[in-house]
Amino acid sequence: MSVRLTWPGRDDRPIETRGARLVPVEPPPEGSKGRVVVGDNLLALRALLEEGGEGSIDWTYLDPPYMSGADYAHEDGKGARTHAYKDRWAQRGDYLDVLYPRLRLLHRLLAPHGTIWVQVDHRAAHLLQVLLDEIFGVQRFRNAIAWRRAPPLGRQVQSGQFPRNVDTLLGYAKGDSPRFNRLHVLTPLKEGKPRWDEAAQKFFTLAPRGDYTDESVSRLEREGRIHRTPSGKVYVKYFLEVGVDGTPLKPRAVDSFWDDVPPLRHVSPLERTGYPTQKPEKLLERLLEATSNAGDRVLDCFGGSGTTAVVAARLGRPFVTVDESPVSLATTKSRLAAAKIPFALERAEDSASSMSG
Ligand SMILES: C[S@@+](CC[C@H](N)C(=O)[O-])C[C@H]1O[C@@H](n2cnc3c(N)ncnc32)[C@H](O)[C@@H]1O
Repeated sequence: MSVRLTWPGRDDRPIETRGARLVPVEPPPEGSKGRVVVGDNLLALRALLEEGGEGSIDWTYLDPPYMSGADYAHEDGKGARTHAYKDRWAQRGDYLDVLYPRLRLLHRLLAPHGTIWVQVDHRAAHLLQVLLDEIFGVQRFRNAIAWRRAPPLGRQVQSGQFPRNVDTLLGYAKGDSPRFNRLHVLTPLKEGKPRWDEAAQKFFTLAPRGDYTDESVSRLEREGRIHRTPSGKVYVKYFLEVGVDGTPLKPRAVDSFWDDVPPLRHVSPLERTGYPTQKPEKLLERLLEATSNAGDRVLDCFGGSGTTAVVAARLGRPFVTVDESPVSLATTKSRLAAAKIPFALERAEDSASSMSG
């Protein structure tokens, strides 16, 4: 029998989508790059399924409340605070009651090549990973990316334990060939002196051949990437790139430990909206570039300040961003307007309740 997370009140009944719809709040502008939807995301996800059907979303990210037990307020930078959303739950099951149906609908909405990325921290990551294993399948697990969201400072350091300053991004694929574009970053050399390759006109460093087979060594030799010592020992050359100031830089594959995406407090003030728990654009940029392609339909159903929407539009991916908080709506609207990104404004509605109400 498979492993399953249970809690009192877990509801496995089919989710009815009929009656849910997205209604324009105003006529969509010319050249719209995406949709901003106001309302509860369960209703919005049901409406998206009714409208587009299964597989109609190529990529999805969610940054839901973290079960932090706190209230969050928008800060305008001049001392005014406005309640944005609450993250309080009587028990953990109440939190799962919210996440479980939404994850089930997102699974249905995703296209076969699509991936889902769920950002949480130590409070919910273990629970959601078990749920996602069940909904998507253990074999569809892609990564648990660790992002250092804050430097280890202040109370965190005094807490008598390692600082809890890491967010986890849980990634799952819908099918067996999800999109993935390999990324690399350029890093300064930590040790060793770069050498100059006359033929390639590039700096390089050397590493032992490791587990390269003889066949691979022959291929690398043809590519000019093998260095032999006078005693005949084989080393592999790794070519370097050069920074603007001429410093040799080593390309390093982006792995699942992200300590090079600065916390929001370290990004430009122009990027900071004052919305609580806003995520850095760089985080979404890296995730979108690696796991989606231009033109892919992107969905963020816990949109907050509109980070996913802004980055998706910039990278040429049409977006849908959903949030129920009026402060989120105001922040997202002004952020998109400032970035000159035209969008359609819609409301999630249940025709049954709108007719009776
Ligand atoms: C952690 S914040 C998202 C922050 C966002 N990633 C950003 O960069 O600004 C979570 C958001 O989920 C929204 N939210 C919570 N429950 C919701 C629901 N049932 N329907 C729609 N939005 C919801 C909250 O209003 C809040 O804006």
